[in-house]
Amino acid sequence: MHLWVLSMIFVRKFKFAIMFNALHPLVSSIINSENTKDVKMQDICELLKAEVPHYDWVGFYFKNGDKRELKLGAYAGAPTDHTIIPYGKGICGQVAESNKNFVVPDVQAQDNYIACSITVKAEIVVPLFVKGENIGQIDIDSNTPDPFTKADETFLEFVNSEVAKIL
Ligand code: SME
Repeated sequence: MHLWVLSMIFVRKFKFAIMFNALHPLVSSIINSENTKDVKMQDICELLKAEVPHYDWVGFYFKNGDKRELKLGAYAGAPTDHTIIPYGKGICGQVAESNKNFVVPDVQAQDNYIACSITVKAEIVVPLFVKGENIGQIDIDSNTPDPFTKADETFLEFVNSEVAKIL
C-alpha cells in the first residue's frame, strides 16, 4: 500500500482516539451530576450524537421486564417506530441473545436487520451489563458507510460501564 494511504489511516485512527479520550470526562460528569437518571441518559445520547461526527442516531434499549423483548429508552436523533424489538430480531435483538458487540459496516448486507431510516448505512450495538447480566444496549446508527473501528467499541463499552453505575 502507498505510504500516503497508510499515513492517512494512522491520522484517522489517532484523531478518533483523541476525540473519544476527550469525551470520557464529559460522560463521567453527566453520570456524576445531580440530575435524575432520565436526564442523565438523555444527556449522554445528546452528547454522543453532537460530538461524534459519524453518530447520527444514539439510543439505549433495555430488557422489558420479564419479556424476551427490548424497549427503547433515551435516544437522540429521529423518532423510530421500533420502540419494542423482540429478542433475536434485528441487530439489537441478536445482541440481546449473544451478549457480544455487533459491528455492522454495511446494513444492506445484513439479512436480520430492522431498518429505521433509509439514510442509515452502518450500525454498532454494544451490550450493557449490570452485575454481569446483559440488561440492555447502546445502539448507534451512522449515515457514513463503514465508519466504526475498535476505538468505537472501546469507547461505547466505557459509556455503558458508566451508565451501569446509575441503573
Ligand atoms: N436497526 C436496529 C433497529 C433499531 S434502529 O436502529 C433505531 C436493528 O436492526 O436491530
